[in-house]
Amino acid sequence: MLKNRNFYSDKLWFFVAVAIAGLIAGVVLIANFGNVSQHSLLCSLAGSYKRIDDSIQTQQLQTILHYATSHVTPQQSFSEISVSFNVLQSLGSCNFLVFGLGHDSRMWSSFNPRGTTLFLEEDPKWIQTVLKDATHLKAHHVSYPTHLSEADELIKSYRSEPDCLPTNTKSPITNVHTQCKLALTGLPKEVYDKEWDLIMIDAPRGWFPEAPGRMGAIYTAVVMARARMRPGVTHVFLHDIDRRVEKMFAEEFLCKKYLVKSVGRLWHFEIPSAANATEKSETFC
Ligand SMILES: C[S@@+](CC[C@H](N)C(=O)[O-])C[C@H]1O[C@@H](n2cnc3c(N)ncnc32)[C@H](O)[C@@H]1O
Repeated sequence: MLKNRNFYSDKLWFFVAVAIAGLIAGVVLIANFGNVSQHSLLCSLAGSYKRIDDSIQTQQLQTILHYATSHVTPQQSFSEISVSFNVLQSLGSCNFLVFGLGHDSRMWSSFNPRGTTLFLEEDPKWIQTVLKDATHLKAHHVSYPTHLSEADELIKSYRSEPDCLPTNTKSPITNVHTQCKLALTGLPKEVYDKEWDLIMIDAPRGWFPEAPGRMGAIYTAVVMARARMRPGVTHVFLHDIDRRVEKMFAEEFLCKKYLVKSVGRLWHFEIPSAANATEKSETFC
């Protein structure tokens, strides 16, 4: 009987010892495996960060080389450029939407090296010309349904078109059936899918009656800004505010109360989100 009890108690100790040994071995194995995989994961991450850093550095150097050897400079002045430069610096990597490709495009892109900078351009030939030497720029062709000559009529009639009013505007405005002639519904999907931290409106052309004018760009920028779900405001920059139509549409849609800076021919607005507003206003300002 005693012998039997000793046998069972020995067996129990044996099982306990094996279980503890197994547990220790398991912990050691998992820890080692974890170290190895963590180490290799860190190595591969470091490798890809280095590759990204190298490619950003190469692009930045190419941009310096381009501007240092070019006789054509961007149209905006140093003080005008500094307004958006300072905002980009304060935000860090961000989503930057630019209406128009120009001699300034490489510069805008290099001010936001780790973010997304997307250009929208109306002239397919001009896209080819600009991208020929700057293949890293992300640009899409867009068509505008309006003409500058329609600007007065558009601003007079939009209030009687319910689809144009802030109470009814939907964002993304892509693919929605709208009677609002100011809403740009045919932009690339990426434009509606992203929330833009900065929107630069320096295009389309707006200096002759048949030109598309910036009416749709201004209206669409404010609709996107008001629909923002992420924290913070949307910074909207409008160039050529010395022109009647740009000024008139800015005052109607971007609003003087949201104007935070006026430098040269550039206005900088900070548009707050209206996505969670409890009271819906019939006007934008
Ligand atoms: C006022 S420009 C914007 C210029 C830009 N901010 C710059 O510094 O070059 C707006 C539009 O003019 C047209 N554009 C500008 N420069 C051009 C050129 N050299 N040749 C053809 N089209 C041009 C493009 O359609 C562009 O979107």
